[in-house]
Amino acid sequence: MQEVDGRGRLVVRNIGQLLTMDSAAGELGKAPAERILEIIPDAAMVAEDGKVVWVGLEQDLSNEESPTTRILDAGGRVVMPGLVECHSHLLFAGNRANEFALRSMGATYEEIAAAGGGIVNTMTATRRAGADALFTAGLARLDDFLKLGVTTVESKSGYGLDPESEIKLLEVMRSLQTRHPVDVVPTFLGAHIVPPEHRQERRRYIDMLTREMIPEVARRNLARFCDVFCENGAFTPDESREILESGAEYGLIPKVHAEQLSHSGGALLAARVGAASADHLDFATADDARFMAMQGTVAVLLPGATFFLNKKRYPDGRLFTQAGCDVALSTDYNPGSSHTRNLWLMGTMGCTHCGLAPAVALRAITRGAARAIRMEHQVGRISRGLLADFLILDAMDWQEILYLYGHNPVLQVYKRGRRVV
Ligand code: NIG
Ligand code: FE
Repeated sequence: MQEVDGRGRLVVRNIGQLLTMDSAAGELGKAPAERILEIIPDAAMVAEDGKVVWVGLEQDLSNEESPTTRILDAGGRVVMPGLVECHSHLLFAGNRANEFALRSMGATYEEIAAAGGGIVNTMTATRRAGADALFTAGLARLDDFLKLGVTTVESKSGYGLDPESEIKLLEVMRSLQTRHPVDVVPTFLGAHIVPPEHRQERRRYIDMLTREMIPEVARRNLARFCDVFCENGAFTPDESREILESGAEYGLIPKVHAEQLSHSGGALLAARVGAASADHLDFATADDARFMAMQGTVAVLLPGATFFLNKKRYPDGRLFTQAGCDVALSTDYNPGSSHTRNLWLMGTMGCTHCGLAPAVALRAITRGAARAIRMEHQVGRISRGLLADFLILDAMDWQEILYLYGHNPVLQVYKRGRRVV
C-alpha cells in the first residue's frame, strides 16, 4: 500500500459533491436524498493531524497556507466518507468453495451443515492454522477491503470455538490493528455454534463461554462486542440471552445474528438486551423493527448472505426505515455464507432486494454502519472532529455510484488524512 504521512494540514478542494452524511437520523423512510446524504456542492474540506477541522463551500475556504500544507484537487468529483464494514468474519483458514459448488447443484446451507460441513468445516481448519498464517491472510484481506474503500472493519472471532483458538483469533486481530491502516474492531463470537465435542452436553459449552472465555477475553481487553448466532442449530433465545448478559457484565456490548434462516426471536432479544445491532433479519417482522427502534438497536442487513445461499427471502429494509430504526448494510464477509468484500455491491443489493433508496443505502454503508459498531462519533461521516477517512470516487454525481453495480468506484482512499490507496 502506498502511504503518505497524515500529519500536518491537508486541504481538499474542487469537490463536486461532498457527501457528509451529517444529517439527523430517524427520517430515512421519508427525507429526500439530499437531506439523507447532506450533500455540499462545490465543496472543500480541511484536515489536521488526521482529523477533519473544517467542511464547507470552497468559496468560504480561508487561504491561510503554510509551506507544509498539502493541497489535494478532487477534480470536481464526488468525495464521501470511508466505508465502514460493520459485520465481517475476517479471520479463518481454508475455504468452502466445495460447498459453493454443492449449493449450485441444489444442496442447501442447512443440509451441508447437517452433513458436517459449514461452520465446523472452517472451525477445523482454523484450529489447525498458526497465528502467522491467519495474520498473513488477514493482511491481504484488509488490503483488499481498503482498495474497495473500506477504512474500518468489524471482525468477529467464532471459528475457533475453544478458549485457546478464540483467543488466538482475537490476538491476531489486535496485531492487524497495529500493522494495517484499516481500523479493526474486534467482536467475540464464541457463541457461533456449539462445537462438535460439546454437542452431547451443550450446557458445558455455554458454561465455558460465560465462566471462562468471556472473562478471559475481557481481562485481556481483546473485544468490544459479544455476538451470538441465535438460530435453530446454533443457540436458542434463552441461551443467547444468558451469553450476552454475561458478556455485558464484563463490558462487552451485545450484538445478535438474528432471524437469518427462520423467525426465532433474536431481534426481540437484541432490543431487550440493548444490543448495538441485530444482523441478517431476513425473517424479521414489523414488531421486531418497532422494538429495535425503541431501543436504538441498528438493523444490519446482509443481502450478500441471502444471495450466496440462494435463499428467496431478503431482509426488508422498509420495515426498519418506516419504524424509525437506523439501518446498516454489510458484506458479512466469511468463507461460507457470503464470500465477498464488496460493500458497494451490498449497497446496490440493498436497493434492488431490500427496498432501500440509493441515498439510504449509501448512508447504510457509512454512517449507519458506524452506528452499528458504536463509532458514529469517529467514522462514517465527514464532519468536524471526526477522523479524516474519506474517498475520492470515479464519479461526478453520487447517483452513478451504486447504479454501476459490482464496480469499485474508488480512485483514492485517505485514512486519518493519509493517502493509503
Ligand atoms: O453470518 N450466520 C452465521 N454465521 C455466518 C456464517 C458463517 C459460515 O457459514 O461460516 C453468517 O452468515
Ligand atoms: Fe455473520
